[in-house]
Amino acid sequence: MPDGARRGLFHADEISPADLAKQIATLDQQSGLPGIPRLRAWTIAALGLRSGEKVLDIGSGTGELARLLAETVGADGEVTGIDPNPGMRAEAERRAPRATFVDGNAYALPFDDGSLDAVTCERVFQHLDHPEKVTAEIARVLRPGGRVVVTDVDWATAILHPGEPDIVRVMTESMRCGVVNPFAARGLPGQLAGAGLTVDDTGSQALIQSPDAATGPMVRMLCRMAVDRGVIGAEDCERFLADLAAGAENGNFHMSVTMFAVLAHR
Ligand SMILES: C[S@@+](CC[C@H](N)C(=O)[O-])C[C@H]1O[C@@H](n2cnc3c(N)ncnc32)[C@H](O)[C@@H]1O
Repeated sequence: MPDGARRGLFHADEISPADLAKQIATLDQQSGLPGIPRLRAWTIAALGLRSGEKVLDIGSGTGELARLLAETVGADGEVTGIDPNPGMRAEAERRAPRATFVDGNAYALPFDDGSLDAVTCERVFQHLDHPEKVTAEIARVLRPGGRVVVTDVDWATAILHPGEPDIVRVMTESMRCGVVNPFAARGLPGQLAGAGLTVDDTGSQALIQSPDAATGPMVRMLCRMAVDRGVIGAEDCERFLADLAAGAENGNFHMSVTMFAVLAHR
């Protein structure tokens, strides 16, 4: 397993076609919610990208952000996405033909010192157990004056409603157990500053799930994780799912987690 990559839903190891399809479906479901396009628009504006610039997107996934970056820097610019997952790179190549996608790990960026104008990294830090090594890599590859936006959630901001308080607490804890760095967002300013970068601004959007997803795959996965951890029983899950379904039916439903995007420059 590469440095810092531990098992979780989105890790740096090879995955089966079924898991790849699940990951892509999850990313597409999330990108369809308003928070992600809004925060990506903020990111691109905050970076102040100019035509012809060289940009790297770390952990590029399905390539949706790289596609927007490539449109912004135009034909004279260069956008590279790196991702250790070959299936994700193939999907990204299909969706973002104007960007280039290469095999790579956030811990050892395949770029020379000071060679890039801008870097983005969206929703990858929660999967890293040594995030400060990656901010050091970002600082290394940026040219003086180069900009970066790192975006991630902080799972302590997760809200689930309605439900019995004890079960809701267990479910929100389960959300934190699914990743190695659940409080990624709060660490970003310190990690960027620790790498010698100057933090300039922070954008934020909540990822607010629609009531249609009230008892969807995400919630069912949380239920399975909680039962597997032995913290609640199957019947508690059934009651929780029924509470959520009733809430969604009556307009009394909320499920969200907040994302933060931190802008810094070298
Ligand atoms: C949650 S997805 C986010 C994808 C994309 N950035 C987005 O926001 O839609 C996390 C991505 O990071 C990649 N990843 C996981 N560990 C990584 C590492 N150590 N270095 C680079 N990418 C990594 C995964 O393969 C996956 O594509």
